[in-house]
Amino acid sequence: TLRVLTGIKPSGTPHLGNYVGAIRPALRSSALGSVDAFYFLADYHALISTHEPERVQRSTLEIAATWLACGLDPQRVTFYRQSDIPETTELTWLLTCVCGKGLLNRAHAYKAALDKNAASGAEPDEGVSAGLFMYPVLMAADILLFNAHQVPVGRDQVQHIEMARDLASSFNHLYGPHFTLPEAVVEAQVATLPGLDGRKMSKSYDNTIPLFAPPEQLKKLIFGIVTDSLAPGQPKQTEGSALFQIYQAFASADESAALARAYAQGIGWAEAKQLLYERIEAEIAPLRARYLELMARPHEVEALLQAGAAKARRSATPFVQRLRHAVGLRPLV
Ligand code: TYM
Repeated sequence: TLRVLTGIKPSGTPHLGNYVGAIRPALRSSALGSVDAFYFLADYHALISTHEPERVQRSTLEIAATWLACGLDPQRVTFYRQSDIPETTELTWLLTCVCGKGLLNRAHAYKAALDKNAASGAEPDEGVSAGLFMYPVLMAADILLFNAHQVPVGRDQVQHIEMARDLASSFNHLYGPHFTLPEAVVEAQVATLPGLDGRKMSKSYDNTIPLFAPPEQLKKLIFGIVTDSLAPGQPKQTEGSALFQIYQAFASADESAALARAYAQGIGWAEAKQLLYERIEAEIAPLRARYLELMARPHEVEALLQAGAAKARRSATPFVQRLRHAVGLRPLV
């Protein structure tokens, strides 16, 4: 059976980009029934960007409750917290030792940090932790530990999955065919959801729309999405319109075509924003209600995560023993 795996980093409140880029496509594919799905909270990864323990814990609960509210069925999906699977860090080391340093030098997130330092005249690696540099190897371990075939993600994660493939083939080449080569699955419609300012919606740009913002706040944020200053009655362009792109991520093809016609006929921005608000609210409102119920019962969420971790380890533990043996270490019993 097809194995599907994806994770979200608990370093803040989940936003619409996480929902349309990862959560919704992942849950659609696992609803098909014939897939073996692994969805997790990447809290080891969160430590790279936040050093606030309460924030990691709070965000872990929020993202776990989000997955469940969006329809994850813990009976059918292996749903867990990354740090409950210590085999992940052990595999990270085995992969680190087959990973060329040059491969990591080319990672987008690391290069972006170098560029930023170059622009401000700082030392090249200033503020860059070794954790940030190693990020792709930890992520490869997440994926390869469960031999996932497909990884549903937004476009920003594609390079990481290609690196996981590279590491899997290097390891297989040296030690035999232990790993499946994973592939990224990106929904074309929503590959990169724009945020309030038109750039990629991202916690680091502070331009996000929280997935479960209360209705009034959701509306206020949507009314703050950047547009040009054309008046009602003047034809508008869909090309490059963040508002239109977000609408597309929530609407059917027919509804999007109707909005495109309204743009050409000069719909006013306030009216277009009202349509977007109603479309998102219609999809999110029932999920938000379940989310609030779950947030009031953190112990139940925690119990589900622990049961999920036990299930995940039933395959991870023997697999890492096999890998230890393959590289010449003594398997632990
Ligand atoms: P993270 O937590 O930054 O984002 C989680 C998921 O949301 C997607 N996403 C977006 N998709 C479309 N438009 C956007 N504006 C947008 N913003 C975020 C991301 O592409 C991602 O799919 N490194 C990962 C977490 C991770 C992981 C893994 C994922 C750790 N191990 C193994 C898959 C497999 C991350 O930081 O995602």
